Amino acid sequence: MKKLLFGAIVLGFMSACNSDSLSNQNENPANKEDASSADMFKRGCASEEVRQEALKSNAELRQKFVTLEANTEKFANELKLGKVLADGTVEIPVVVNVLYKTTAENVSDARIAEQIAVLNADFTGTNTDANKIPVEFQTVSAGDTKVKFKLVNTIRKATTKTSWATNDDMKKVSKGGIAATSPSNYLNIWIVGKMTSQGKTILGYATFPESAGLWNDGVAIAAPYFGKTGASSPFNLGRTATHEVGHYLNLRHIWGDANCGNDQVTDTPTQTTANYGKPSYPLYNTCGGVQRSVMFMNYMDYVDDAAMFMFSAGQKARVQSVIASTGARSGLRLY
Ligand code: ARG
Ligand code: ZN
Ligand code: CA
Repeated sequence: MKKLLFGAIVLGFMSACNSDSLSNQNENPANKEDASSADMFKRGCASEEVRQEALKSNAELRQKFVTLEANTEKFANELKLGKVLADGTVEIPVVVNVLYKTTAENVSDARIAEQIAVLNADFTGTNTDANKIPVEFQTVSAGDTKVKFKLVNTIRKATTKTSWATNDDMKKVSKGGIAATSPSNYLNIWIVGKMTSQGKTILGYATFPESAGLWNDGVAIAAPYFGKTGASSPFNLGRTATHEVGHYLNLRHIWGDANCGNDQVTDTPTQTTANYGKPSYPLYNTCGGVQRSVMFMNYMDYVDDAAMFMFSAGQKARVQSVIASTGARSGLRLY
């Protein structure tokens, strides 16, 4: 059934092309006279003809063609509607869900704005500490990932809960939480007073793009690590959100969550494990017998907020892939 439909669409395309070229000839009767002599000097390009022949005999190719045109149209339409900026930047609409017990946990609008500003700076490479990127890594630094964030709503709700787990309860009304706002279309951020897992403090956690649009899709962050003013040192520069939104946009931990693991990014040097605190540069790790200077200043490591200040170009490619009109998070557009 699907194949038949595709076939019909392709045939439609082809006949439209043919009738078009026919009518074009008819519309220029003045050129008809010297057509034969001009033909000898006209430049020829057989691409379209060769394509039509190939499409006729290859159903798989026809399917690819139809998908390609549909994706192209989708992207062009997004540009036209202003959902994607002229330079290809996607603005992600953000809903912040605040669950508070104490007034300190009820983070202010100003602090939320501050956090959005940090996300924008970090994802566009305009963070003031970008000048600390070592020369060695400047060539593979992401610069502008072409993702921006815009706060569209803040939902606040009082709770009697002092501490939350990493079990998504904050996203369930039945557990005293706040339900996500249209998670296919908005990045939902939940702020809770405190979060622990197996007795350990959790700064935040995120869902990856395979969860796009699900009820639990989004980022959870504990209030002391959200924003800057009044936040808890050494995680008081808003980088927990940068790190978690990195996951949300398909970035893995830079050490690949294993000893000398793989983060699926070639320009982030393989490193043995997570780094903490403020490591001093250069820091060398040996993996598979190869010694490398590691990129511990990457947002996807575990160092202090002040010690992380870059994404890599390879990470930018992953982010752009999921946010593209054909990606898992293509629903995140400003309307
Ligand atoms: N998911 C990590 C955690 O809870 C977040 C690490 C963020 N790092 C940072 N410097 N803010 O530990
Ligand atoms: Zn993480
Ligand atoms: Ca890597």
